[in-house]
Amino acid sequence: MERIPFGIKGLDEMFGGGLVRKSICSLIGTYGTGKTTFALQFIYEGLRQGEKVIYFSLEEREDRIYDIMADRRFRVDKYRDESLFVIKLDPTDFNLSINSIKKDLPELITTIGATRVVIDPPISLFEGLYDDPSERRREMFYFIELLRDLNANFLLTSETSTTDSYASKYGLIEYLSDTVVVLRYIRPEDFTEVHMSIEVVKMRRSNHSREIKPYEILQDRVNVYNEASVF
Ligand SMILES: Nc1ncnc2c1ncn2[C@@H]1O[C@H](COP(=O)(O)OP(=O)(O)O)[C@@H](O)[C@H]1O
Ligand SMILES: [Mg+2]
Repeated sequence: MERIPFGIKGLDEMFGGGLVRKSICSLIGTYGTGKTTFALQFIYEGLRQGEKVIYFSLEEREDRIYDIMADRRFRVDKYRDESLFVIKLDPTDFNLSINSIKKDLPELITTIGATRVVIDPPISLFEGLYDDPSERRREMFYFIELLRDLNANFLLTSETSTTDSYASKYGLIEYLSDTVVVLRYIRPEDFTEVHMSIEVVKMRRSNHSREIKPYEILQDRVNVYNEASVF
């Protein structure tokens, strides 16, 4: 099976070599666990591999997004609007945002020839548009089906459930995605420092690590310590 490197060595090892080509991966974690950082790493890896990438963001100003990448020492200027396409969504109207993704994404992907697409605004924001759980389930199902018809690898992010740190906010996206990665804080009583842990909880059509591994966010990269143990 063809593998796509995520771009974080330890995580690619946990995946058994990388993501399965043309699959949908979700990153579940609360704010500050590093979802955006992981997503940028995924994009940067694509660019280095000569791929075309699309990054959806809620940042109001495009320059901010490039500033964040520059802070991270990601040299993306030469890719900007050539193979890296940043698309700002309207942070005041998620309904409009999701509709524009649904409407424009198929054509965008085909025109650009994009093979990596990141939707960084947590998918929970879109799920939250529906009050009725069955309507939410149906809408998300159709949305994911739409992505499946496109010839790209998708990375989605999601907020965590308030009651279960292994579940997404609405408990849906983990069923719809091919690969699910959970990012968590660990605050052990005898530790003075917060640790971060990563786990691949699901990966369709692939063998993968079931271990909980520590990770660290540095300025210019994420380290996943696949040889280490959190306990
Ligand atoms: N430029 C940076 N250098 C080092 N660490 C950073 C930098 N930017 C963010 N971080 C760290 O990474 C953490 C995760 O940030 P982020 O990826 O935005 O998380 P999320 O998208 O899950 O909210 C931040 O809380 C901070 O600790
Ligand atoms: Mg973020």
